[in-house]
Parts: sequence; C-alpha cells; structure tokens
Amino acid sequence: MSRQFFVGGNFKMNPNSRTEKKALCALLNQADIDSSVGELCGFFRDLEVVVAPPALYLIPLKEILRKEIKVAAQNCYFKDAGAFTGEISPAQLKDAGIPYVILGHSERRTLFHETSEIVAQKTKAALASSLSVILCIGETLEQRETDQTAKVCSEQLQAAVDVLTEADWSKIVIAYEPVWAIGTGKVATSKQAQDTHADIRKFLSSAVSPAVAEKTRIIYGGSVNKGNCVDLSTQPDVDGFLVGGASLKPEFVDIINATR
Ligand code: G3P
Repeated sequence: MSRQFFVGGNFKMNPNSRTEKKALCALLNQADIDSSVGELCGFFRDLEVVVAPPALYLIPLKEILRKEIKVAAQNCYFKDAGAFTGEISPAQLKDAGIPYVILGHSERRTLFHETSEIVAQKTKAALASSLSVILCIGETLEQRETDQTAKVCSEQLQAAVDVLTEADWSKIVIAYEPVWAIGTGKVATSKQAQDTHADIRKFLSSAVSPAVAEKTRIIYGGSVNKGNCVDLSTQPDVDGFLVGGASLKPEFVDIINATR
C-alpha cells in the first residue's frame, strides 16, 4: 500500500525573532509545493506537511501559514491541568487547534531525562486529547556501533505498545532519528535508514499487528538536506522526514518536494 508522504520541520528553539518567523512563513506560503486537487480543500492529497515552531509561535503560525501546512508542538506534558510550572497540556494544544505534537525527541530524552515510559505516558495523554503524535526513537553512536539499533528502537517503542490500543496507532507517525545523525551532518545512508525502518515495521507487525505495521508512517530524521532527501525518499520503508536545521532554510521546500 502507499502511505501518504510526511515531511515535518522541527524548528527546535528557532527562529529567535518574530521577523525571522514571518520570513519563514512567507517562504512556505509562496512555495511551489507539489500539491494536488486536495490543496483546494485545505490539504495535499499525496503529502502531509507539518512544522513545529517554539510554543510561543504556535498560534501565530497557525493563523499565518497556508491552510495545507499544519503546526505541531515540540512537546507536551501528560496531565491536562494542574501545578506543573512551565508545562503545556495536551488539552491546551487541542483547545488552541494544534493538531500534532512531537514526543520523545532525543533532545528531550538526553537533556531533559525523559524515559521511554514518560514518553509513552505523554503519547497516551496526547492521543486522549485527539492530538496526533510524531513519536521519536533512535540509537546513539555507541549502540549503532555495537549492533544494538534494532533492540534499542524496539525497546523505545515497546513502552508505547504497553499503554496504547491498536487503534491509537492510526494517529502516530514514528520518527526514526539516529542520535549520531542529529545536527551532525552525518546523515544515515539510504541502506541504514531502509534497514532500520524495515526492522521497526517488523517489530510493529509482531508487537501490534500486521495492519498497523503496514499503515504506520515511519519517517527519517537526522541531517536531512536537499542533497540527500531524494535518494532517502525512494526507500520503500522511508515514508518521509523530520527535518531540523534545513527546515529553517529555503531548501526545506526542496525536501518537501523530494518525491516530485
Ligand atoms: O527532529 C529533527 C531533528 O532532530 C533533526 O535535526 O538538524 O539533523 O535535521 P537535523
């Protein structure tokens, strides 16, 4: 089956000015994106594009961006209200009309000590508020070099499998982001990405169901740019990208159009 190609832009803690934010929106609003008839109805038929700005910019971007491009939060908590200073709840994102949230990004896991169990709790809470989730997994360089990639990715996903229903997976996009490729310029080879995505799909098939494995989009993140996106996009189990640094540049449009 063909899965709708998905391109996400994770702005992280950028841009650092409203002027830059507006320029980025203008670039995306004017971009020649390989749209289809669906664009007239507020969506791209064969493509889903989501950008994740800092939380402060979520509502302004939702109001400024063309309706075919969705916005995502970069994180949320696993409670809907209460004394959790500094946190944003899934219910608040839902109320603001924000449809997606990125969870489990490696920077959340390493810098903010989020375990796979916490990420699973957040995923369950986000889905309970009808959000869709970009669920990030990925191994470190040491784990890759000691042939633990499949094991690590399975363990990270197993925490979510343990708390989710089969139906929940229809609202999840899995982002495989090898930690050693994030922000380093050392992109995974197309074979590495394909092999790991295939392992992830095989895990989903046995841990959840063959139907979920077939339907779930597994996207790649880690030093994606206009020079490597086309070959990566031709891999049968690569269903799109989660782009960091390049999503802040004009080449993000080339990455969005990788399958053109
Ligand atoms: O979430 C995507 C991000 O981690 C990838 O970053 O800069 O390597 O594309 P970058």
